[in-house]
Amino acid sequence: MSRISSLVALTAFSLSALAQVPATATASDLALVSAQYINSGFASTSNTGFGVSLKAEAILTVEYGFGNVVNGMAYDVTQVAAQPTVYVTPSTSTASDFTSSSLYTLTLADAASLGDPDTAGNYRHYLANSLTGASGSGSNLTFVPSNGTVITNYASPGPIAGTGPHRYAWLLFAQPSTFAAPSNLSTTGVSPSHWNVSSYVSSSHLGDLIAASFFTVENGTPTGSVASTAAVNTATLSTASAAASAASSGASSAASAAATTAKGSDASAVRAGSALLAVGALALFL
Ligand SMILES: *[C@@H]1O[C@H](CO)[C@@H](O)[C@H](O)[C@H]1NC(C)=O
Ligand SMILES: *[C@@H]1O[C@H](CO)[C@@H](O)[C@H](O)[C@H]1NC(C)=O
Ligand SMILES: *[C@@H]1O[C@H](CO)[C@@H](O)[C@H](O)[C@H]1NC(C)=O
Ligand SMILES: *[C@@H]1O[C@H](CO)[C@@H](O)[C@H](O)[C@H]1NC(C)=O
Repeated sequence: MSRISSLVALTAFSLSALAQVPATATASDLALVSAQYINSGFASTSNTGFGVSLKAEAILTVEYGFGNVVNGMAYDVTQVAAQPTVYVTPSTSTASDFTSSSLYTLTLADAASLGDPDTAGNYRHYLANSLTGASGSGSNLTFVPSNGTVITNYASPGPIAGTGPHRYAWLLFAQPSTFAAPSNLSTTGVSPSHWNVSSYVSSSHLGDLIAASFFTVENGTPTGSVASTAAVNTATLSTASAAASAASSGASSAASAAATTAKGSDASAVRAGSALLAVGALALFL
């Protein structure tokens, strides 16, 4: 197990070392992240999810000290201790939605582990409203949303020991002019706490979730049962229509993964590890 973990960690390092902040997103990049988001259980309306669907218009690149987050990868508490830089990369067909008058809300939320849901709901690790930023001109469409009001300062992931691999997601929402922050989340310096992403979105009249990036952090050995999500088959995601069917099959596999409380999911961890190694090897050979 530890050999597999270190191989996966090594691969993650190789991938992140190679990964750069992209200049544009392709339709298949957006389809892939949408399928991964569903497959990770985040769209679920139970407290294992956020109850909000991703309508991906951009890739979110989350740059920590170790490199860029690879969606679905596991990181150590120390790797995500310091606040990252978050980059937004639209595609040529969505770039016009990111203008100098656009506003965004950015949050980092914890949806707990699939095998050990948090009955109190999601947990807020960061929240900023009224961020601004327009898609770049020329060939590089990437921008860093900034100049907003930080409601909850970055509180680094630190899951309770034994509660399994917690799923953390950076979520970028479109913030329309009708947005109104709830009175208890309208000023700077609100401590991190439990909240429900979907309740926040509906009560504040926030817009669509337009970009997301996610990873897991685990503390100690799970005492409960842990469910794993299946890998997303990128081969089926080369066209938008294939993406739609992959996304819906992803939804059912995430649901069955959540329903299956397989104690000791070492076999699926090995499968996930081999898939990552295959991707890593490919990236290294290209
Ligand atoms: C695109 O711009 C971003 C932000 O300015 C930069 O970090 C990134 O390296 C650029 N990407 C490419 C591929 O040039
Ligand atoms: C933030 O504000 C400064 C001026 O205060 C401006 O120059 C910059 O373009 C703004 N950044 C974004 C991303 O809107
Ligand atoms: C804000 O108020 C709502 C509604 O009363 C409550 O559910 C929520 O927990 C409060 N949030 C914070 C951060 O205090
Ligand atoms: C979040 O939703 C769960 C049900 O999924 C509920 O039990 C809990 O009270 C909610 N938490 C907050 C802080 O609103």
